[in-house]
Amino acid sequence: MPTPARPLIVGNWKMNGLSGALAEAGKLAETLTRDRPAAIVVICPPATLLDRMSKALSGCGAALGAQDCHFLNRGAFTGEISPEMMADAGASYVILGHSERRIFHGEADEVVAVKVRGAVRAGLTPIICVGETLDEREEGRVLEVIAAQVTGSAPLKPLSSKPFCIAYEPCWAIGTGRVPTAAQIAQAHGAIRQVLLQRFGGQGAVTPILYGGSVKPANAREILRIGDVDGALVGGASLNADDFRQIVHAAQ
Ligand code: PGA
Repeated sequence: MPTPARPLIVGNWKMNGLSGALAEAGKLAETLTRDRPAAIVVICPPATLLDRMSKALSGCGAALGAQDCHFLNRGAFTGEISPEMMADAGASYVILGHSERRIFHGEADEVVAVKVRGAVRAGLTPIICVGETLDEREEGRVLEVIAAQVTGSAPLKPLSSKPFCIAYEPCWAIGTGRVPTAAQIAQAHGAIRQVLLQRFGGQGAVTPILYGGSVKPANAREILRIGDVDGALVGGASLNADDFRQIVHAAQ
C-alpha cells in the first residue's frame, strides 16, 4: 500500500507569538535553510502574524498555515477571517476542528465540514483535528468517537480530489505533558486509516495522519516511528526554535 511521501511537522502557535516570535522564526528559518530536513514544515501563527511570518520564513522551505477560518470568502461576519484572506496573507494550510475550537466555540463536526469545504475552495490544505476526551477514553469509546469525527468532519466532496491531513489529538494530552502509549497511538491511527481507506480509497492510503498532544524533543522520535504516524502537530514546543528544530529532525 502506498504511504504518505514525506513526514509533516506542523507548529501550532495558538494565541502566542508577539514577544520574540519573529526572532524564533528567524532562527528556525536559518536552521531549515542550512539543514534542508526531510520533513515538510508548516508554521501556524496567529492570523495577524501571517504576513510578517511569510517574510521571516521566505526561502527556508517552510510553509504557513492558519489556525481556523470562516467557511465563506466574504460577507457580514464581524470578527471573522475568510479562507481566501488567509491564503492572501500567505497561508497554504489551515487547522480546522482543533479541540480548543470544538470546546470553547462549540464547533461540531458539521461546522468543521463546511469550513473544510470553504478552505479547499480557497486552495488551502485542511488539517482536520479529531480526538477523544478523557471521559470518552475511560468509557472505552475512543475508536467510535474518532471514527465519527473523521466521517463527520471530512466531507467526501471536495476532499476526494484534494490533499488534506488528519491530526489525532487526544484532548487530555494537549498541553498536559501526558501522552498516550505507543500502542494507544498506533490503535487510533490504524482506526483512522481504515476510515480514510473506506471513504477515500487510494487517497486514504496517502493522506497524512499526524499525532498531536505534548509532542516534545524527548518523545518525538519514538512517536514518529509508530505505524501510521505521518507527522506531528506541535503546540507548546513549536514556540521555541531549538525545540521545534529537534522535533523536525526526529522525523527522518
Ligand atoms: P501541545 O498542543 O503540543 O502544546 O500539547 C498541541 C495542539 O494543541 O495542537
